[in-house]
Amino acid sequence: MEKSILIAPSILSGNFANLGSDVKDMKAVGADVIHVDVMDGVFVPNLTFGFKMISDLRPLSDLPFDVHLMITNPVRYVERFVKSGADFVSFHVEAETEIEKALAIIKNSGCKCGLAVNPDTPISSIERYAALLDLIVVMSVFPGFGGQKFIDGSLERVTEAARLRDRYCPHALVEVDGGITLSNAADAAKAGADILVAGNAVFGAADRAEAVRHLHGKPQ
Ligand code: DX5
Ligand code: ZN
Repeated sequence: MEKSILIAPSILSGNFANLGSDVKDMKAVGADVIHVDVMDGVFVPNLTFGFKMISDLRPLSDLPFDVHLMITNPVRYVERFVKSGADFVSFHVEAETEIEKALAIIKNSGCKCGLAVNPDTPISSIERYAALLDLIVVMSVFPGFGGQKFIDGSLERVTEAARLRDRYCPHALVEVDGGITLSNAADAAKAGADILVAGNAVFGAADRAEAVRHLHGKPQ
């Protein structure tokens, strides 16, 4: 039997004036995980939100919160993101920081830890940390904005990440983030992804449940 892919809508594409109702809706539409994009305006040229938003949203859903930090020096903040209610906290291998220390803080506070890799960074850059990881986030767009186009060549990088996972951290999940659509979701799953982040594909759809069903590979 084929493994079933997990769908993680990114609330970056939700309505910020009404995020509570978007978060509540995610379980009803069949999503598996809620992807939470945190941007600091320095690591990426955009700003979103921080701890309080996450801890206020947390009680509204029992789906896991997958917090993706696009911030500089994440070691300063990871513990507070765990405390705000994250189930997964990932940050970027490109962010200048004490990577091992930040991963250990996340793990020791009872959360799953991940590293994200930008499209122009070799997947091999995470090899030395791979044994510590619960999640590998392969960026298929340059981070900062939702609704961008999936970068060609990302599927090969997903397969490379899945190989690295099989070798060093077989329990870990491989996530693809950026530009996932109803047309490329199946290919990303086939390339080895376990989780597909989908912002625009879910929040831009007329029927979110139908979009999630399609992303799961069940178009009927
Ligand atoms: C990009 C974010 C992604 C993005 C996904 O910086 O990390 O999570 O919002 O949105 P879509 O699916 O619209 O590309
Ligand atoms: Zn993200």
